[in-house]
Amino acid sequence: MADTDHQHGHRHRRGHGTGPMHDPKGYERLSARLATRLYRRVARDVTDLRLPAGSRVLDVGTGPGTLPRLIAASAPGLQVDAVDVAPEMIAWAQQTETPRVTYTVADVESLPWPDATFDVVVSSLSQHHWGDAAAGLREIRRVLRPGGQAWVYDFGWALAEAGSTTSTLAPTTDVTHERSVLRMWWFFSVGRLVLRAR
Ligand SMILES: C[S@@+](CC[C@H](N)C(=O)[O-])C[C@H]1O[C@@H](n2cnc3c(N)ncnc32)[C@H](O)[C@@H]1O
Repeated sequence: MADTDHQHGHRHRRGHGTGPMHDPKGYERLSARLATRLYRRVARDVTDLRLPAGSRVLDVGTGPGTLPRLIAASAPGLQVDAVDVAPEMIAWAQQTETPRVTYTVADVESLPWPDATFDVVVSSLSQHHWGDAAAGLREIRRVLRPGGQAWVYDFGWALAEAGSTTSTLAPTTDVTHERSVLRMWWFFSVGRLVLRAR
């Protein structure tokens, strides 16, 4: 997968280009086989919080939108937003209308909400595509309400890199790096970076 680079004067982000990231239907089929256990785990983590009705959850880098749909189905009181930088992913996700789920095209580095909007921000297998992990984490922290938390699930190498940038976050942020929360396939384990907003 292409790293962040500069071609034809445009800044191309990881995840933009050819391959499954450009084919929402193909990615949805692939991820249903490979990532369903992760989606269930994230949805369970959200429901375990027993948030009051009307609480707001954001999924960053949602891809075809499977995770926000599962979160909304598992926790009927929640309002779920989901963003992806790829318009084709959001167009695909929007074809499945789901009550209480709203999809928006946006880059993690520039989320279209005011400060302190969300109770929980989740992200699964997207962080390793971000062009600037530190900027993405800062923006996620910005939209978290005091007392809220963000969970960034990704492969160990990606979270190690992102975790090394967390000193640039607001000082009212507690950071925990859980190195292995789920073994996805025999050779990959997924970790979680947790940001808690005080
Ligand atoms: C491997 S897919 C993961 C999709 C979904 N979260 C899942 O777990 O199946 C990575 C997604 O992150 C999105 N993405 C990459 N860079 C992003 C950015 N800077 N801001 C928002 N989304 C981004 C890609 O477009 C892609 O849909």
